[in-house]
Formats: sequence, structure tokens, C-alpha cells
Amino acid sequence: MAKSPAVSPDKRADWLRAQLHEHNHRYNVLDAPVISDAEYDALMTELREIESEHPDLIMSDSPTQRVGGAVAAGFEKVRHPKPILSLSNAFDASDVRAWRERIHAYAEKNVTNFESFSGSFDDYVVEPKIDGLTIVLHYDQGVLARAATRGDGEIGEDITANARTIRDLPLKLMGQVVTGHLAVRGEAYMSLADFRVYNKRAIAAGEKPLANPRNGAAGGLRQLDSAMSAKRPARVLCYSVLLGTNLPTTQWETLLWLAQLGFPVSKVARRFASLDDAIAYCEAYAAKRDDMPYEIDGMVIKINDLTLADALGFAGKDPRGATAFKFPARESTTILRSVTVKIGRTGAITPTAVLEPVQVGGITISNATLHNYDDIARKDIRIGDRVVVKRAGDVIPFVAGPVVAARSGSERVIVPPTNCPECDTPVERNLGEVAIYCPNPDCPGKLDRVIEHWVGRGAMDIDGLGEKIVAQLIDVEIIADVADLYAIKKDQLLELDKFGEKKAQNLVDAIHVSKSRGLDRVLVGLGIRHVGDVAARDLARHFKSLGRLSNAGVDTLQQIDGIGPTMAEEIVAWFARERNQTLIKKLELLGLDLTAATGSPVGEATTLPAFAGSVFVITGTLSKPREEIAAWIEARGGKVTDSVSKKTTYLVAGENAGGKLAKATTLGVKILDEIGLEALTVG
Ligand code: IVH
Repeated sequence: MAKSPAVSPDKRADWLRAQLHEHNHRYNVLDAPVISDAEYDALMTELREIESEHPDLIMSDSPTQRVGGAVAAGFEKVRHPKPILSLSNAFDASDVRAWRERIHAYAEKNVTNFESFSGSFDDYVVEPKIDGLTIVLHYDQGVLARAATRGDGEIGEDITANARTIRDLPLKLMGQVVTGHLAVRGEAYMSLADFRVYNKRAIAAGEKPLANPRNGAAGGLRQLDSAMSAKRPARVLCYSVLLGTNLPTTQWETLLWLAQLGFPVSKVARRFASLDDAIAYCEAYAAKRDDMPYEIDGMVIKINDLTLADALGFAGKDPRGATAFKFPARESTTILRSVTVKIGRTGAITPTAVLEPVQVGGITISNATLHNYDDIARKDIRIGDRVVVKRAGDVIPFVAGPVVAARSGSERVIVPPTNCPECDTPVERNLGEVAIYCPNPDCPGKLDRVIEHWVGRGAMDIDGLGEKIVAQLIDVEIIADVADLYAIKKDQLLELDKFGEKKAQNLVDAIHVSKSRGLDRVLVGLGIRHVGDVAARDLARHFKSLGRLSNAGVDTLQQIDGIGPTMAEEIVAWFARERNQTLIKKLELLGLDLTAATGSPVGEATTLPAFAGSVFVITGTLSKPREEIAAWIEARGGKVTDSVSKKTTYLVAGENAGGKLAKATTLGVKILDEIGLEALTVG
């Protein structure tokens, strides 16, 4: 978002109002937003702040003064029985406590016989805040009569035909007889599973995928042709009653009552007698949001006593009786300033976006991956574009695509480099691969990744050397290769940013301990092309010392089971490079164990008949790390590979196995669980 120059509050308010009107229209009427919800919220918050400081600037047409967007043409209009309101936002525990303070103060001053409510004030219901769209459902004599979108909050669009495609929406109420008219409010959404299925099919058919589940549900329900709606399956969760007779008087009972009538109601909803517990529940869900079957953008904390909630009235358009505990937005838009590259350990060149810094998922992002140049071309991402940046769970932030509607015409096409931007070596591309490579083994651009690989779990396993610290150590020239790690002194670390006594000592100790991991781990760490942990173990077992291995020729190497000509040549070429010879000498001088000790895990193997000649693939979540299971299989003579093919004998599948399990099933590969795997030793 453009930074505000120092303008007067009235000018700024004018500008904010114009922006909000524009984005409101784009979002609600055109279905073509160009900024994220979080950015919209930020504009609204700023306008509210100005208006509360300068009440004379409040205009009747200010977006802060009305409930929602406009009503799109093309649908019949439906007047809502009550205004469809929104919620105030809280972004952390202290915001929630401030909300409680505010309503408490308000109640003491304004609510007549507030005393009679006081017993139930600290009684809350917490529900997930589903990231979908409000839907109002009307039932006559227990039969679905009408469904409407929110529209402008007073008048919505009649989407009854489309709503009938919502598979969990009751068309007729169950349980007790409901006479007269009942109006229920809920949130329509698209489940993550349906969203993924939809997008997979859309991409395969060359159609445009959905940007997110919310757009999927909104777009689906606002189709003029209801047959199109059915293709984007929406679901609903209901949470309040707008109109009816003999209604429950608490939120908790409302949820139970709705459930009895056959409405889908969130199973996550809970009741709390203390605000701290309610907050803790919200915070727990911030961490669990990735495990939910649908997107949630927060939790809603509601005063359970609906009579009290009603008596509390509204602050502007927001009811005082509830507040939204919002999670950090995981998607935002920002400007793509330029593109740099990241060079992987293998030389793979990954284009990386340099962004105008933006908050996504609670952290500031200024870099994000652009995956590869084919992807950039397919999505037509250009420098200067406003782009959508996403980040979910542990996923690395990535640029999802451009906001084409926001283009000014001055954007520039991104051209893949012909030479490595770090060392100027002409790049290479392997047939059938999307990545381009820098083939220069000494390319300085690889150093970060080389060190990160060396300290990684499968290699020297040095704790406390994350990406940032590695970059810092390279930056201040403490390290220029992996051997330099072993010469680091505590004093050098203490001079660095964020290094205290304890952290520095721990790191020095961890580096020291790693010296004795042994030859097989050193070989993994050196990252010789094609030498993975299996080959490293075989080589260590055979040669017992790095010195002996470095003198081996291609023929000698090939005599080892599992080492073919390509790997043998790579190994010989690696040791032939002067730079690598120097590195080995340095490692030796610094006291690294470059031998395979007898009795180490590298030790003897007992080949078993069911394993010899069998090819295993391991997938899914198992009781032990995969490397451990792989080592166990290999120790019995089995071979472990990464991908399922016709050559695979067994697939060892743990929980949540996905693509590999599907492929193995199609190919008729035998599937084993861990018990089945162990049974092979006796079979
Ligand atoms: S209560 C007056 N409960 O969030 C009652 N809203 O930012 C206000 N939403 O417009 C709504 N899940 O579309 C409520 N469990 C839930 C909700 C929920 C999603 C949406 C709703 C509302 C928006 C407020």
C-alpha cells in the first residue's frame, strides 16, 4: 500500500474514502478485488482512527457508516429481517481484554438493570471464524423458502436456486416442528478438499484455477446459472438466528438448537467461564488452523447471554456483544520490485522475488520464491506488478500471481538469465526439467546452501546453525568453506548480532561434537553429485578412510555394489579438483574424523532373503524418521529409492501417504505398514 505523504487529515480521509469505495465495489460487485482483505481492513482502520479523532470529518456516505457493499445487478433483491452486521476485530489477547473493558464500562453506564446480567457476564462462546461469505436462510413452516447473500447488509441477493446446491444445507428442518418463519444466519464456504479437487481438475482442463476457497464459494453462489454453482461445491455452518419464535436465549443453546433442527454447526465451538480461557482457546487454534478442513481467518468470541448481548447494542456497525480474534492474514499483495536468484547446492537457479515489504501470516516478507522461469512465464508475472504473496504453515512464502487489473503498463517482462548471475558461467538446462543450472562447481552463489547442507541432519548435524546465522558468518567472512566452521572461536561469535555467551558456547560445542560423526556423514556433507546417504555408507564401509577413497579410480569404484559409472566419474572428478583437495587437507588439520570406525553404524550388514534384490520406497508419517527406516532396510540388503516405479518391490506407507501410495496401488506394488516390514525378516 502506498505510504501516506504528510497530508492534512481531511485530505487523507477523502483519499481513504475514495479508496474504500473503489475496493468495496471491486470486491462486492465486480468480484475482482485488487487488494487483500487485510489491506482493506488497514485502510478502514486508518479512516476510523481519523474519524474518531476528528468527528467533524464523518460523512454520511463514509464507508465506516454503512454495513457492507453494494448489491449486484442480476439477482432478485431480498430485504433482510435485521441488518446483517459485521464484527469488531481483535488481533491479540490485549485487544480482546480491551474489548471486555469497553463493554463492561458501557454496560455499567448504559444497560438498565445491568446488575441482573452481572452473574453471566463472564460466560463466552468461542467459535471458528470461517473464511467464507454470510448467507441468510429463510424457512417457512420448516421448509427452505429463500436464501440471500449479505449484499449491503440491508438488502441482499436472492440466491435460493444456488443455495440449494449446498449439500449440507437442510431443505426441510428436522426434529421438532418449527412453525411460522425462521431466518438463520450462517457462513457458506468451500472445504479445502473440494477446493483442491476443483483446482486440480481446472488446471488439467486448462481452465483458470480458483484463487482461494472463499472466492470459490462466493463465485459459486453468485452464478446466475445454478448448474454452475453445483460445480463449485459449497457448504455451510450456521451460528445465529435472525428471526423466529420461542428462540433460545443464549448463544450456546442456539448452536445446540440449530444442530437439532439439522443445521450444520461447528464442532469446534466451546463455552468458557473466563475470558483468559477463551483467549487461550483462540490462540491454540491459531496454531491449528492448518489442520482444519476449511479456512478460518480467526475465532469469534461471543457473550453467551443473548439478552445481554442485545442490550449492549452496537458501536457503529459492530455489535458490542462479540468480537473477532483475527489470525494474521496469510495472503497479501505488494509490489514486485525486482527478481534476484538463489543458487542451490546443486547449482539450480531459483528466481526470487524482491518485494516491497509486506506483512503475511504475522511476519514481514521482503523475499519470496518465484519457483522457476516457466512458472513466471505461465502466470505472466512482471517486474513492477502488484502481486499476490502467500504463506501458509511451514510453506516458504511464494508469489502466487500478478494482479493484472492493477497494471499501469510500465511493468517489465522477466527474462531468464543466460549466464549465472553470480559467476557468469553460461547456464544449463536438463531435458525435461524446468530448472536452469549453474554448472560451475566453485560458484560462490552456492556457498550458503553448501554450508547449510553440511550442517544438516543427514550430514554433520550441527544444531544452532540456521540459514540466517550461516548467511551472517559468510557475510562477515568468518567462513568461506565448510572447514572454516571448525576454526570458529567463541570470541568471534560474541561480536555478532544476537550472540550471547550461552548461544556462542553452545554453537562452538555443537561444531566440536560434529567432528567425530565419521566418514559416511562427511561424505554426505561434501555433497558430491549423485552420492546420497546410501552410497556414502557403502563408500565409507569399503574404503574406511577419505585418503584411500580419494585415490580410487573409476574402475575400483565401480566394483562396489550400487556404484555405477556416472557416480564413479563424479567421485573421481570431485577429488581431482584442487580446491577439494585443499578442503580435505584443511578438514584433516582441523581434527575431523575422516575414517569409518569399526563398530560404527556403518558396520556389518546381515543380508536377508526377503530384502536382497528388493527395492523399497518409504512414504508417509512413520514411527521413526525415514532415514532410520531406510538404514534398517539397507542393513538387511534391501535397496531404498525415492520414487515409485515398476521396479519398486515394496512401498512402506505410513500415515497420510499421498501420491506415492496412489501410484504404487496403480502399479500393483506391494504395500507394507511398519509391522508388515518387520514381518519380512521372519518371512
Ligand atoms: S458472528 C452479529 N460468527 O465473519 C454477528 N461471524 O467479520 C456477527 N463469520 O460477517 C457475525 N464465522 O460473515 C460470526 N462463527 C461466526 C462466523 C462469522 C464467520 C463471518 C461473518 C461476518 C464476519 C465478521
